[in-house]
Amino acid sequence: MAPIDPHSFTDSSHPLTTHVSLSLYLDFNSSIIHGSALLTLSSAFSGELSLDTRSISIDTVLDPLTLAPLPYRVSATPDPIRGTQVVVVLSGQSSVLIVYSTSPSASALQWLSPLQTFSKSHPYVYTQCQAIHARSIFPCQDTPAARIRYDVVMNIPNSLSAVMSARHVRRRLPVPEEAKHLEAGSLGSSLWSGEDRVVEEFAMEQPIPPYLFAFAVGELGFREVGPRTRVYTESAAVELLDAAALEFAGTEDMIKQGEMLFGDYEWERFDLLVLPPSFPYGGMENPRMVFLTPTVIKGDSSGAQVVAHELAHSWTGNLITNINNEHFWLNEGFTTYAERRIVEVVQGADIATLNMGIGWRGLTDEMERFKDNLECTKLWNNQEGVDPDDVYSQVPYEKGFQFVLRIERQIGRTAFDEFLKKYIATFKFKSIDTNTFLEFLKANIPGIEKEINLQLWTEGVGIPEDAYEPVSTIYTKIISLAKEFKEGRMPSEDEVAEWNGQEWELYLENLPKSCEPSQVMALDKRYRLAESKDYEVKVSFLQLAIASKCREYHGEVEKALKAVGRMKYLRPLFTALAQTGGTEEKQLAKQVFAEARETYHPIAQGVVESILSKYI
Ligand code: BES
Ligand code: ZN
Repeated sequence: MAPIDPHSFTDSSHPLTTHVSLSLYLDFNSSIIHGSALLTLSSAFSGELSLDTRSISIDTVLDPLTLAPLPYRVSATPDPIRGTQVVVVLSGQSSVLIVYSTSPSASALQWLSPLQTFSKSHPYVYTQCQAIHARSIFPCQDTPAARIRYDVVMNIPNSLSAVMSARHVRRRLPVPEEAKHLEAGSLGSSLWSGEDRVVEEFAMEQPIPPYLFAFAVGELGFREVGPRTRVYTESAAVELLDAAALEFAGTEDMIKQGEMLFGDYEWERFDLLVLPPSFPYGGMENPRMVFLTPTVIKGDSSGAQVVAHELAHSWTGNLITNINNEHFWLNEGFTTYAERRIVEVVQGADIATLNMGIGWRGLTDEMERFKDNLECTKLWNNQEGVDPDDVYSQVPYEKGFQFVLRIERQIGRTAFDEFLKKYIATFKFKSIDTNTFLEFLKANIPGIEKEINLQLWTEGVGIPEDAYEPVSTIYTKIISLAKEFKEGRMPSEDEVAEWNGQEWELYLENLPKSCEPSQVMALDKRYRLAESKDYEVKVSFLQLAIASKCREYHGEVEKALKAVGRMKYLRPLFTALAQTGGTEEKQLAKQVFAEARETYHPIAQGVVESILSKYI
């Protein structure tokens, strides 16, 4: 067996899946999906086809043409990272039908009870598949090396509606005959066409990596904010929907800007789904429909930055995709660059530079975090035996950004813009690795390897000396104010009069990791940072407060950890409590996690667990 991806059981000598047809029956009572997956391969195959699953139970595997059972076996013990390998024995088929059920603990799915939703009266379920969780929803070759088209027939309660990162085809009544494959498994025969059920059909006609498969089901409402953009929230969350529609009013301008910079927008729709507060990321670039945390809606249009980022993935990440997670920087580094180009046009160069500064700070912090694990400071890194969720960091984003910017600085913007457009046009709908990019770069910018040490940038550790610490008046001013705090001076009201969340974030992140408790409290008394509605500011401050042993803030920390499940906030707060704290802090971390655990997405549960087990 020759793997093509350290995170998948897919064998490089096997044909890859090109199309998946799913029938899914969502059972909200048991948090289980009863499904069938018809996988079509690029060519007929004889032998043992290797697939990825995670906590999935298989009922039967059939030849879709004859409906004859096909032999298969399931590995006895799951691999802690890759999950359970399933091997299907084919004799010349080019497709295979698998009837299966998911588990209530499926790592991609969060099932919310009515009480965990805004409505309090309807349940909700949503997916998060990146990096390697699609395999917990359906058996597949779960590697971005395999690009799939798909269609889905989804059977849900008729009081709910479904959205997907795919074209909505229609909503209709279920038909009993279409359940016959599922009934070969554990779905009772009358359930599919029960009176209270409805079917939603979707089709994805552009080939995507499996990690971009996504859906959400709940009582949803929407508003149109542009010719190709709707904003969705729970329909009961009227104020949130209003605020989101305002916050994202400029989306169409950003799409047009993206098209000017990077080429046509290839996905037709660009809808936005604002999820419940437990959504584990800021944003996820699911094609046609980006998923967003509600914490980006702050009423100051800074949420537009996250939208700019996820939009930028429409070109870098979704059109050109990293072939596996070892080349994740190709997705996130390019996207961070593209995001800042869009921000520069729609919000101005000052804001773009401020974001660059926050990124620079984040990058230098990561170098400290990974000082005993230098592999994680490389753009292209070895992830054999490594769980992508455990090594998620700013390195692929910010070092990747720095590398792309380094090339831009070398050849100038005009030449670079032309190069970028050509790069995207050449590799669109392809999954590539770092070397493919470097070969293309050298072929199109002759002599570049003499100007930039490409190998040092992509395979070396740390931050290369020719990286660029941003400069702007406001950036320099904030850094020097942060230095003065160490000498006991607080910024004056005048100095912060124009500050928004991002300025405060940059300021707080440049303060020493821990400070004199009285000074920290004085800062908060004056500027009310712990109560900020902006979670970036609130969490940066609380992190400082924990590390400075200001225990009066423990109540606020607990509230924050119970209100949102975004890992960008859970990680630093739980780390600060567990790593820098004394017994009281460690105790708080354990207690809050025990109480909040069930409200977190399974991916976030796993990440917090590994932080706590490292330090406690
Ligand atoms: N694709 C990522 C989110 C992700 C990364 C999910 C790895 C799973 C595994 C997304 O595009 C992203 O980077 N989101 C950022 C927001 C952004 C503005 C940098 C986030 O969630 O914080
Ligand atoms: Zn991203």
